[in-house]
Amino acid sequence: MVEKVVIFDVELILSEPADVDMEWVGNDDLINELKAAWLIVDENDLPLNPRILGKPGVGKTTLGYAAGKRLGKDVYMFQCTMDTRPEDLLISPVIASDKKIAYVASSLVSAMIKGGVCLLDEGNRMSEKSWASLAPLMDKRRYVESIITGIRIYAHPEFRLCVTMNSDSSTYEIPEYIQSRLQPKIFIDFPNKIDELKILKYNLPFAPEEILEYCVDFLQNAHIHDDYTVREGINILRLYMKSRELKGKDKGMLNKNEFKKAIVHILEEHAINYCSDEYEKFLKRQQEKYVKDDFLIFKKLDE
Ligand SMILES: Nc1ncnc2c1ncn2[C@@H]1O[C@H](COP(=O)(O)OP(=O)(O)OP(=O)(O)O)[C@@H](O)[C@H]1O
Ligand SMILES: [Mg+2]
Repeated sequence: MVEKVVIFDVELILSEPADVDMEWVGNDDLINELKAAWLIVDENDLPLNPRILGKPGVGKTTLGYAAGKRLGKDVYMFQCTMDTRPEDLLISPVIASDKKIAYVASSLVSAMIKGGVCLLDEGNRMSEKSWASLAPLMDKRRYVESIITGIRIYAHPEFRLCVTMNSDSSTYEIPEYIQSRLQPKIFIDFPNKIDELKILKYNLPFAPEEILEYCVDFLQNAHIHDDYTVREGINILRLYMKSRELKGKDKGMLNKNEFKKAIVHILEEHAINYCSDEYEKFLKRQQEKYVKDDFLIFKKLDE
């Protein structure tokens, strides 16, 4: 059954909130940063619109979704793309079964109407034109204007917004007047070893402890070099467990060679250096290379 509401004589079909199994494990400070940004401390106060930042795969979407759920709210997710037009963000016309035009409210507008949380995922993929349509929503006005229906929609007082953004290059530069409305910035860094192990365990409860620990050591060594995120660890573990299953091998026993094969398939040959039994040798090779390079530089200077 779809839910419908009428606003200024226009009937809108509402979108459904997301219902996924995504719990935030580990650093609760980040959840609290989001909760603080959304808090209202006085009747004249307004919630902030936080921007969650970090490398691809560090857990930005997970954090936004889980924080909304922990507040007991419905979370509506909107996946932003380069092709997202202003009206896609607000209200889209569709042909209904009686051949009449019906209007569908986006996840964002549905969250505004119902008082849920809207997570604008990967917001920096969206063009300035689309962002511009959200400017009034993100200041004191708290409304959007749909050109297609000609109506203005005010946000429910319980409505909350957050945006995730990652730092890959295929994205737009967000204009300053929008950036200043997307505050505070919540930056997700690599988790520490204890939290990363918990995250792996939560995502792969069927993987044996010894294998999870080998994987977490691999990830922690990689993070020292600003490499890879927990998503890569999860994918490596999944592939490893699947290949063991396919070969009918004992899944409980750690086979380092098989694990390294999974690393190469998911990442690249070089990544194997971060495995705990390779890492010391790798550092030594690096050190020797630096010494040799320095020697060559000094030799050249002497000549
Ligand atoms: N703290 C965490 N608790 C539970 N799972 C986590 C956590 N951090 C990361 N993950 C897991 O890591 C994977 C990547 O997380 P997520 O998709 O949220 O990352 P992202 O930063 O949004 O990535 P992208 O920039 O590519 O959108 C998911 O499988 C998620 O379950
Ligand atoms: Mg994401």
